[in-house]
Amino acid sequence: MEKIKLGVVFGGMSTENEVSVLSANSILSNLDKEKYEIYPIYIDKEGKWWKSYEKPGKRKLGQEIKEKEEIINLVKYLKELDVIFPVLHGLYGEDGTIQGFLELLKIPYVGCRVLASSVAMDKVYTKVIFEKAGLKQTPYEYVRKFNDKYIYVEKDFKETILSLEETTKKIVKNLKFPMFIKPSNSGSSVGVNKAENEQELAKNIEYASKFDKKVIIEQGIFGKEVECAVLGNEEVIASCVGEIKAADKFYSFDAKYKNEESRTEIPANIPKELSEKIRKQAIKAFKSIDGKGLARVDFFIENNTNEIYINEINTLPGFTNISMYPMLFQESGIPYKELLTRLVELALNFRDVP
Ligand SMILES: Nc1ncnc2c1ncn2[C@@H]1O[C@H](COP(=O)(O)OP(=O)(O)O)[C@@H](O)[C@H]1O
Ligand SMILES: [Mg+2]
Repeated sequence: MEKIKLGVVFGGMSTENEVSVLSANSILSNLDKEKYEIYPIYIDKEGKWWKSYEKPGKRKLGQEIKEKEEIINLVKYLKELDVIFPVLHGLYGEDGTIQGFLELLKIPYVGCRVLASSVAMDKVYTKVIFEKAGLKQTPYEYVRKFNDKYIYVEKDFKETILSLEETTKKIVKNLKFPMFIKPSNSGSSVGVNKAENEQELAKNIEYASKFDKKVIIEQGIFGKEVECAVLGNEEVIASCVGEIKAADKFYSFDAKYKNEESRTEIPANIPKELSEKIRKQAIKAFKSIDGKGLARVDFFIENNTNEIYINEINTLPGFTNISMYPMLFQESGIPYKELLTRLVELALNFRDVP
């Protein structure tokens, strides 16, 4: 049987370029070489596309891709592939842009389509959809940077222009501390901060707005942080639930990628009925954004009440050997290599025309 030509695209123009290199490195090591002829493709931070000749193996965060050759006729090069696995996190990768590009080229690809990708990338719009789906979320506020002011956007999208001080005053009336301030389009906790008082709130809004004009402010939840992986197109399965034990005040960028003390517990040590609820909600969340292929859905379980709050959905979750997505399915009986094969098959079997 002839091998399937599989392009693995990684790197990318986002703040998560380096994380993506690690994810791809581990995917490249685990793909079934009997089934696939693999074409590793690196997009650098400037957006240039390269054939990567780096051997998969041990890599550190931030290690440069040295063995590479620029792709001159990109469209022609891509069109010769049977399927593409975009292993890109964040903007220009997880947000529907590469998905749109591949749609135009009519090349099958792994994972969510354009709409689901862009909704999931944008925390504000994810919230709008989750609310519609009846998934419980922590109270939040949404502002948009506008010159040196902020546009305060109500739940019905009514807008008021306010100074930073007026903005924080308004938010403090509606939410309790601690609060989490996040760029609406972000990932890997870049630009995310916790505020305990009004001063920190103001400072963190300004900071988050450097990453994205849209800023979301959430009421903090005291509890466990858990994640559930989903897989499928129309028939979607959910993995077991895993818990994050962050070695920091919260699961910050450093806690995620630099602090070895951050741990995961798989399966999470929680009552069975709670994990069943979370698995159902994960599938519901995936369906609500019209997800396809894969996603990792993140939740909080509040201390004392055991209430489940959905946090976010990641359509291209981390894929390193110690990342939750592959580990959750591993624990649920689908080994890494088989998981990758299933993802590629879901991409090849996907039909969006009636
Ligand atoms: N409302 C919240 N309550 C408690 N912790 C939060 C809240 N929002 C975010 N966090 C903490 O901040 C981390 C990053 O936030 P998250 O929304 O997951 O952003 P990212 O998309 O960058 O992963 C979370 O993993 C969690 O540790
Ligand atoms: Mg997160």
